[in-house]
Amino acid sequence: MNNSDQTQTESTNPTIDTMLAHRSIRKYTPDPIPQEHINAAMIAGQAAATSSAVQPYCILHITDNDKRQQIADLAGPQQKVRDCGSFFVICADLRKHMLITERAGNDYKTGLEAFLVGAVDASLFAQNFTLALESLGYGTCYIGGIRNDLPKLNDILNLPQGVLPLYGLCAGTPDESPSHRPRLAPQAMLFENQYPSDEQNLAHIDQYDELYKQYLTDRGANPATWSESIAKKYSYAAREGLADFYESKGAKLC
Ligand SMILES: Cc1cc2nc3c(=O)[nH]c(=O)nc-3n(C[C@H](O)[C@H](O)[C@H](O)COP(=O)(O)O)c2cc1C
Repeated sequence: MNNSDQTQTESTNPTIDTMLAHRSIRKYTPDPIPQEHINAAMIAGQAAATSSAVQPYCILHITDNDKRQQIADLAGPQQKVRDCGSFFVICADLRKHMLITERAGNDYKTGLEAFLVGAVDASLFAQNFTLALESLGYGTCYIGGIRNDLPKLNDILNLPQGVLPLYGLCAGTPDESPSHRPRLAPQAMLFENQYPSDEQNLAHIDQYDELYKQYLTDRGANPATWSESIAKKYSYAAREGLADFYESKGAKLC
């Protein structure tokens, strides 16, 4: 299968159809998502696997318009954070474990493993939650931009120790219909027994570069290859204060 054909491939069932229909939505009508749909997506999200059932995550539904605007500003600004129907912040939640351990009379001990489990399990939850919303006809867009200023976000949300915001999620009724952003070929990601040579790896990337540039050209965006975007992005370190912030909230990263 050519990756440009991914969305046209005959899917095998409605779940895969929903997955293939995904594209990030950046324009929404203002209608909030009804609570019953949020509840349904919560149950679907929580059905995701979670390491040893520790369930180290939570999700804040931000309904206060003033808080939404402040978060929109620090995230870019990204006005969709204020304007989408419903906005959420996904967090790793070590607090419940802290409370339980201390209530049992033990010292709470943590490390990089607990942080990673929090980030991994929160993301498994978040993707199930998001997919459930998409299956109900809503559009979504994750918002990493909240990590631009986590101390400020922490003040806006008044988060207790142990609650570590990871990213936001815009959701609601789409008010645009963007095309699908192509992905690397599956053969560039799925390897049998052995990671490929650099030459094989780069050959896949060269192929994808043309597809990616064409996609941007068709969208009327500045045409760049994927390699050009990546080389630029990873030529400087981003958001360097994250470790300090997460450690100030009770995580231990080494
Ligand atoms: C964790 C995460 C954070 C993201 N943060 C942002 C963001 O701050 N703003 C935005 O417009 N899109 C954001 N995105 C969306 C990506 O840009 C988008 O998923 C990617 O370009 C692929 O496009 P598609 O989702 O339309 O297929 C984020 C995606 C992820 C997974």
